[in-house]
This record gives sequence, structure tokens and C-alpha cells, in this order.
Amino acid sequence: MSSYKIALLDGDGIGPEIMAEAVKILRLVAERQQVQFELTHPPFGASAWFECGDAFPESTKAVCDAADAILKGPIGLNHEESKKIPVDQQPERGALLPLRRRYNTYANFRPVYLPKALAHFSPLKAEVIGDGVNIMIIRELVGGLYFGKKEMGVNAQGKRYVNEVLEYDEDQIRAIHKVALDTARKRKKLLHNIHKSNVLKSSVLWNEVLEEVRQDYPDVKVEHILVDAAATYLCLKPTMFDVMVMENMFGDILSDQGGGILGSLGLMPSACLGPQKSYYEPSHGSAPDIAGKNIANPYSMIGSVAMMLEFSFNMSQEAANLWQAMQSVFAAGYSTADLSKPGSGVTMISTSDFGDRVAQALRAMPV
Ligand code: IPM
Ligand code: MG
Repeated sequence: MSSYKIALLDGDGIGPEIMAEAVKILRLVAERQQVQFELTHPPFGASAWFECGDAFPESTKAVCDAADAILKGPIGLNHEESKKIPVDQQPERGALLPLRRRYNTYANFRPVYLPKALAHFSPLKAEVIGDGVNIMIIRELVGGLYFGKKEMGVNAQGKRYVNEVLEYDEDQIRAIHKVALDTARKRKKLLHNIHKSNVLKSSVLWNEVLEEVRQDYPDVKVEHILVDAAATYLCLKPTMFDVMVMENMFGDILSDQGGGILGSLGLMPSACLGPQKSYYEPSHGSAPDIAGKNIANPYSMIGSVAMMLEFSFNMSQEAANLWQAMQSVFAAGYSTADLSKPGSGVTMISTSDFGDRVAQALRAMPV
């Protein structure tokens, strides 16, 4: 029997509640697929800082180093609570970015997946959604402005100034384009390259390297689109996109816009793939305002499990089953209070009930 070690980083806010549902699903998958998942919950994020004075403790690093994959919940606190933690230890800077850097998880997959069963969550008109939206946003995750040198101070004229560097080398760019073209090849053979080469030199190199890499992919059609225009088209005509590739900051912004298309970032799981190790996480924050109320939808967390099954454990069929199981719960008219308003025609259920129903639907599917 194969056995996999999974490090579960529960995170903050709603993290532990939605993680509990992911664990339910992992146990069921283990049973169905005759595999063993060894699950551990090392501390990570703001809760880890309060517990052990470190948002990403050495002991957690050791557990993650030894794991076959990492499943991470959302991290972060509200503004007031955040201020209790020194700036560099706040969980975004002190835990999340170091996690990405440690495992060089350069390829971030964020599905903007809006099938019919979820269409009612979207603010877009039915004629814009058509038969459904299915976009894979591929964001470069460990380069660019977010990881460049940063400097803040007072200059010779006595003025406060800031300097942040947007840096990429050609190998980093080549690597993400390969991932994007491989993904496009497996899907509709259409790749939209998102850039800003009319202003940014980084985009000029980005596009130059893409021209080289795509020579090996004559079967994939590549379309170039400026990032600002892409933002507009995502609203007006999201169905024109299939796979989109972009640098780190563009991906941060446009993937949140993708959450807007879905009606909530709560419907967006993600995969962060590195050469040796990958981790999986919801694309949203820790929603401290609804933490502990058993109302947060665990879709993004369970969807992250589906992505883990596909990318880390080579269980694509079970991943597809899991996606379908989640759709079926919505299609049967159930929803949670974070996604739907009372009186909107859905039956409101809790976080744990949603997880139970997904498990029930999965259990009913052939292995
Ligand atoms: C995301 C988040 C992070 C990012 C933050 C929390 C540092 O917004 O994963 O999109 O900007 O990458
Ligand atoms: Mg973001």
C-alpha cells in the first residue's frame, strides 16, 4: 500500500474549521484508493507566532521538509490583531512568503471554474457566463516585485523614498512558460499571455522568452494581451480565456478578479508547484470575522485537496470525482451563509454539513 506524508498547516481564522473538512475527505480518499495518508498538524501562521514566537517555526519546517505534500489553510489576522506581531513576523511575510521561497513553488494554478451548478453565485449576467467559465490562471509565484530587493529610507534631499525591484532571469521565465504551455496543450491548446510590454522591460523579456519556448509547442495558439485589457475582458467575455500565464503581481490581482467572477474567493482553491515539493491552499484569506461560526464554505480547501490528488499523487480520476461531488452538493440546492443570503432559494447548511455531504456524494461514486 502506498503511503504519503501530508503536512497540514491549519492556519488562522476559519483555517482550522475548513481544514477539518479537508481531513474528512482525505480519510475517505485513503479508504477508497487503498492508500495511507500520514497527517500531521504543525503550527504555522499567526497562531504559531502566538504559540511559539515564530510564524514558521523550525520544527514546522522539518515536518514540511519530510512531507510528500503540504496542505495549507488561510493565514492572517484582522488589522488590530495583526499589529500585535512585529511586521516581519506577520504571517504573510513571516510564514507564507518564506514557505513559497523554501520550496521554490514557482507555478501557481488558480482555477476560475464556474460550471452551471455554481453560476448563481456569479455577479455576471447569464449571457456572459454562457455554458460556464473554466479558466486556469497560472501565476509565477516566487519572482518579480514580491521577492525583489526592498529599500525604504530618507534620501540625500531629506525626502522619504522607497525602492522595490522587479527582477526575473530568463530561466525563471522559461520555467513558468513551459508549465503554461504544457497545461494549454492538455486543455484547449490556447494560451493567453498577460503582460505590460508597452511600459515594463520585465514584460519585454517575458515575451521574448515566450517566443523561444513556444517553438516547441506549434500546436498551442498563443494570444498576447496587455494586463489592463485582460482585466476588462475577464469581466466582459471570460469565456474567451482558457489558460492564462502572468507574472507574480499581475497574477495576484487578476486571480482575485477571478474570485469576483465566481462570486467569492471562497470558491477558488489553488496549487503551488515546485520542482521537489508542492503545497496547496485556498486563494482567500482567513476571514476572522466569521471564524468559529461553522458557516465558512470548505469548497476552496476541499478543492485544494482535489488539486493535490491530481498534481502530487497522480490520482486524476479521484480528483475529478471530488470536483463533481462538490458540484453535486450545490446542484442539490445547498449552500453556506458566507456564500448565500437567506431567502435566496438555497438550503443553508454549516461548514461541517457541507463537508459531510461532499463525502457522502464521493462515497457514492465508483472508485
Ligand atoms: C495570495 C495572497 C498573498 C499574495 C498574500 C497574502 C501575501 O494575496 O496568495 O494571493 O499576495 O501572494
Ligand atoms: Mg492575493
